[in-house]
Amino acid sequence: MTILWDLDPNAVETYRFALGNDVQQLDAGARVSRALEERPDHTLVVIGPDVPLDAACELAERERVDRPELGVILLRHRLDVTALGQALRSGVREVVQGDDQPALADAVRRSMQLTVQLAGHHGVHGGRDGKVVTVFSAKGGVGKTTVSTNVAVALASEGAKTLLVDLDLMFGDVAISLQLVPQSTIRDVVSMSGHLDEQGLASVVSTHSSGLDVLAAPADPADADRVPSHVVIELLRVARSQYDFVVVDTPPSFTEHVLAAFDLSDVTLLIATLDVPAVKNLRIAINTLDTLGAPSEARCIVLNRSDAKVGLKPGDVETALKQSISANIPNSLSVPASVNRGVAIVLDEPRSPVSIAIRELVDVEIRQRFGGPVRNGAKRSFSLLRSKK
Ligand SMILES: Nc1ncnc2c1ncn2[C@@H]1O[C@H](COP(=O)(O)OP(=O)(O)O)[C@@H](O)[C@H]1O
Ligand SMILES: [Mg+2]
Repeated sequence: MTILWDLDPNAVETYRFALGNDVQQLDAGARVSRALEERPDHTLVVIGPDVPLDAACELAERERVDRPELGVILLRHRLDVTALGQALRSGVREVVQGDDQPALADAVRRSMQLTVQLAGHHGVHGGRDGKVVTVFSAKGGVGKTTVSTNVAVALASEGAKTLLVDLDLMFGDVAISLQLVPQSTIRDVVSMSGHLDEQGLASVVSTHSSGLDVLAAPADPADADRVPSHVVIELLRVARSQYDFVVVDTPPSFTEHVLAAFDLSDVTLLIATLDVPAVKNLRIAINTLDTLGAPSEARCIVLNRSDAKVGLKPGDVETALKQSISANIPNSLSVPASVNRGVAIVLDEPRSPVSIAIRELVDVEIRQRFGGPVRNGAKRSFSLLRSKK
């Protein structure tokens, strides 16, 4: 996350092009220091053109010893040699003219790359044994994107280093659902194929305010064909070495990209709804996973809109699928309302039944499955079949 230290209340808007949405604006040096102490995941401080030079240099000087991986970029109304020299000596990475947004965007990118490199040298990142969680259904409109974005945001907001990959390469809507305006997409990974590394990956993700990193689908559907499946395999392999969790949203079909994701998944969340075609398609999905040799314990059925009064009952779904339902997410108008506002419901309405169900899903089917800690009060199991026994 980036901190913008600026005295102008509209500064976040002014610099949105260069800094993106994941910015916390603060108007005093003491507040910046406190925010840095409280959250070790801050990677960049951008200091506005009206902040006195001495105060800016003091912060840079202090942080470069305590936290060398933190980047400090200084904006000035005019670039003069004296200020430049003083700033760079104090540990400011770059000094940029305040009204030059492209130059600021470049400086931010360079700083982020350096941060990743330094963090790597300090052993902060890398070498992880991350888990890949793929969210799938062979039918559209059942809630894959809703579940994948909210699961990923829930994991990230609870402190797990999480990447959400949008593999719905033609119609991906993860970025728009989270109100992100990605500078790069999965299309940009293609040119790094064969030598993708942590810096390369870090340079193409967009960071959400929850701390979640997102790798968006291409903006142009025509680009979907330009992403070969071997790139997806390389991407997921590199990603799981850098993140605790890699959540994958998918299109409603068995594309070669989806099959690649299944192959690398530690758990697959299969989304069902209470309608006959959805259940039929899910049965086919389960058969396909069986054919691929995916272990049945590595998949779980998530029934979305589980309380819809449409004749079919959750028990019918379990009987048809011969598998118990692991999580029930109720129907709620808050879901489309949150999507339209570009916010994740788990953060925006944490007490809503949908958010509670999603957090339980995260606890039981993801955290607990991989031996992680579970929040207090989370139920251990809520399967209909299992609870009947
Ligand atoms: N539990 C729910 N309650 C109400 N509406 C939902 C729920 N889950 C999803 N929706 C809505 O259904 C539509 C399709 O959801 P989405 O997640 O985009 O599905 P998919 O990714 O499978 O195509 C969206 O408008 C979404 O807001
Ligand atoms: Mg979708």
